[in-house]
Amino acid sequence: MSAASSAGDASISAGSPVAAAARQTLSAKAERFTESVIREMTRLAMQHGAVNMAQGFPDFSASEEVKEAARRAITDDINQYAITWGAKELRDAIARKFERTQGVRVDPEREITVTCGSTEAMMATMMGIINPGDEVVIFEPHYENYGPDAILSGATPRFVQLQPPDWNFDRDELKRAFGPKTKAIILNTPNNPTGKVFTREELEFIRDLCVRWNAYAVTDEIYEHIIYDGSKHISMASLDGMRDRTITINGMSKTYSVTGWRVGWAIAPPDASVPIRKVHDFLTVGAAAPLQQAGAVALELPASYYQKLAEMYVLKRDRMLGILTEAGFRCFKPAGAYYIMTDISGFGYPDDMAFSKYLVEKIGVAVVPGSSFYDDQKMGARQVRFTFCKKESTLAACAEKLSKLRAR
Ligand SMILES: Cc1ncc(COP(=O)(O)O)c(C=O)c1O
Repeated sequence: MSAASSAGDASISAGSPVAAAARQTLSAKAERFTESVIREMTRLAMQHGAVNMAQGFPDFSASEEVKEAARRAITDDINQYAITWGAKELRDAIARKFERTQGVRVDPEREITVTCGSTEAMMATMMGIINPGDEVVIFEPHYENYGPDAILSGATPRFVQLQPPDWNFDRDELKRAFGPKTKAIILNTPNNPTGKVFTREELEFIRDLCVRWNAYAVTDEIYEHIIYDGSKHISMASLDGMRDRTITINGMSKTYSVTGWRVGWAIAPPDASVPIRKVHDFLTVGAAAPLQQAGAVALELPASYYQKLAEMYVLKRDRMLGILTEAGFRCFKPAGAYYIMTDISGFGYPDDMAFSKYLVEKIGVAVVPGSSFYDDQKMGARQVRFTFCKKESTLAACAEKLSKLRAR
């Protein structure tokens, strides 16, 4: 809402000097980032009737058992605020699962905060631990939220490149990014958009830097169960020396195919959980209470659920790699998560934005331009990202549309 309309004065137009003066008082922080490119691509996909291979939300059904648990919670009148840091049943289930899968024992009373998606968990964490002048190390390409998370929390980002085709990082570059001002490193494994799964050796190298500079590792592990070819997801918190300096961010969105439910969490040592909980309380009070109950059921699903999830996604990954290769893209094969980064050099477009616009408007496929994953946009000018968390008919429609691209 503009300043003019909120004042209820219809005579002040958006372009008037009064409106311009009011605008000068708006947040300088919010001026420093744009709206989400990924979500904008979803809007464009709808506008042009394009197949949406941009935003990472599954278009197939979630588990019946989990949906039934949500229905039951509403029938049982779980309608009021849950405890602000999360319903006890869900926190207990998160603690049990973390111990079961990663061998890390945490206290659900003092170390787990349930939030509105992992998006809020990351923002509440950053707002909870950052002071002016603090620096945060971020690998790039990176999930686009981390830039605004840093700006809004007041952190200065220090970017370190993941280099294609294997998305390895230069250890000296990472060493140079750490220093006395480093408050944290944001680590996303399995990684969006590259599909990189950090190895134990890489995590240990990062661990040593965190210990040396007394920094936190804030790890976004939302794709922990979407993993291929024998890769193994290792939580940073499970490494020696990291239990009390890791904040593990996770959520229901991707593992249970319920991105719209908005249930996530931050697992942090008690001293860090205190400010995270305070920020969370005043940001949102809490995530949807009945869906937290369903979360408690979801997190108790047997190991076979996660195995089937990974088996389903490896087939979709291979199908999508075939479609994209056939259409002329150079693909970077992901080891985890549900995205494929591609090199578009072969198509002769000036940059990723021009190519993405052409794809959505003329070919009918929405993708995410690579530049939206980089601080320096030029770095992503030859890349676009496809998601493949879609049912077969969507993948087939994508293949059909992209065949036009090849013909041209
Ligand atoms: C790396 C990463 N973190 C977080 C999110 C958002 O998760 P949530 O739905 O839990 O807010 C996404 C969504 O695409 C993501 O790719």
